[in-house]
Amino acid sequence: MKKEICMARDKITIVGAGNVGATTAYIAATKQLGDIVLLDIVKGLAEGKALDMAEAGPVQLSDSNIVGTTDWEKTADSNIVIITSGVPRKPGMSRDDLLAKNVQIVKDVSEKVTRYSPDSIIIVVCNPLDAMVYTAAKVTGFSKKKVMGMAGALDSARFSYFLARELSVSVEDIKCVLMGGHGDDMVPLPRFTFVSGVPITELLDEEKIAELIERTRKGGTEVVNLLGYSAYYAPAAGTVKMAETILKDKKTVMSCCAYCDSEYGAGGYFVGVPAILGKNGVEKIIELDLNEYEKTQFEKSLAHVKQLTSQVDKLL
Ligand SMILES: NC(=O)c1ccc[n+]([C@@H]2O[C@H](COP(=O)([O-])OP(=O)(O)OC[C@H]3O[C@@H](n4cnc5c(N)ncnc54)[C@H](O)[C@@H]3O)[C@@H](O)[C@H]2O)c1
Repeated sequence: MKKEICMARDKITIVGAGNVGATTAYIAATKQLGDIVLLDIVKGLAEGKALDMAEAGPVQLSDSNIVGTTDWEKTADSNIVIITSGVPRKPGMSRDDLLAKNVQIVKDVSEKVTRYSPDSIIIVVCNPLDAMVYTAAKVTGFSKKKVMGMAGALDSARFSYFLARELSVSVEDIKCVLMGGHGDDMVPLPRFTFVSGVPITELLDEEKIAELIERTRKGGTEVVNLLGYSAYYAPAAGTVKMAETILKDKKTVMSCCAYCDSEYGAGGYFVGVPAILGKNGVEKIIELDLNEYEKTQFEKSLAHVKQLTSQVDKLL
C-alpha cells in the first residue's frame, strides 16, 4: 500500500535543507514529532536528504513520513513551519553581516508560508535571528504569538553544557535563563540559573561564572572557527525542542525570541525572553524581577536588536 503524508499527524515544514534544516528534520523524525516536508530551492537536495532519512526510519523505528521537495504546494496546511533557509556565517563574519541577504530570503519564504500555511506557527532560525523573526512577522502579518525565533534554547544548552562539565553534574540538573538578542551581547542570568534548585552563584565563584558566560556568548564563533562554517547539531536540537513543546502543548518555559510589548519595557520588539510555549505559540512571557545590572545588560542588547530591526524596515 502506498504511504502518503497522513494528515492525522502534525505536519512540519522545514524550509532549507542545509545543515540546520536537514538535522532538524532528522531529529524531529527520530522523535516521530509528525510528518515532515523538507523544502529547498536547490533541486535534488531536499529530495535526496529526505529519502536518505526516510530510509533510516525502519532502523530508528520511526513512522514519520519525510518528503523532500522544491514545491511549496507540498507544504500546504502545515502546523509548524521552521525557517532555516538563509546564508550561514563563515569565520570572521558576525551574524549581523548576514542581514541584507537573509532578509530577502526570509521575506520570500514568509510570503509562501502566508499563502500555503496561513494557520501555521513559525519558528525562525536564520540569522541575525531577532531581525529575521521581525521580518517573518511583518511579512506574514500573523498573530505575534505565532511567530518566534530559536536562539535561547541553543544558548541555554551551551551554558548548561559548560556548567554541567564544570560542576561534574548531569546536564539534566541545570536550569538556566538567557535573555536579549542572539549575539555576543546576549544576557545569561546567573541569579536565575540553578543546579537542582541550588543557585550557581553558591557553587561557583564570580570569575568562573564570568568565564563560562563569555564562552557561551562566543559559543557560535567557537564552532565556526573550528569547522569553518556554522554550528548545526545543537541549533537543530534547540529548534526541535521548541517544535515539540508547541505540538505537544507542553507549556514548557524556555528562552526564545518572542514579541514583547510592555514586557521588560521592550516597546514592541522581538527579543529573547523566557516564555511559556504551547499549542497557541508563545502563550505567556515570564517577567523576571531583574536587578539594575541585569536590566542594563538587557537594555544594551535590546538597543542592538532595535538597530537591526530598523535596518530590516529599510530593506523590506
Ligand atoms: N538561531 C540560531 O541559533 C542559529 C544557529 C545556527 C545557524 N543559524 C542560521 O541558520 C541559517 C541556516 O544555516 P545552515 O548552516 O543550515 O546553512 P546552509 O547553507 O547549510 O543551509 C541553508 C539552506 O537554505 C537554502 N535556501 C536558501 N534560500 C532558500 C529559499 N528561498 N527557499 C528555500 N531554501 C533556501 C539553501 O539552498 C541551503 O540549502 C543561517 O542563517 C544561520 O546563520 C542560526
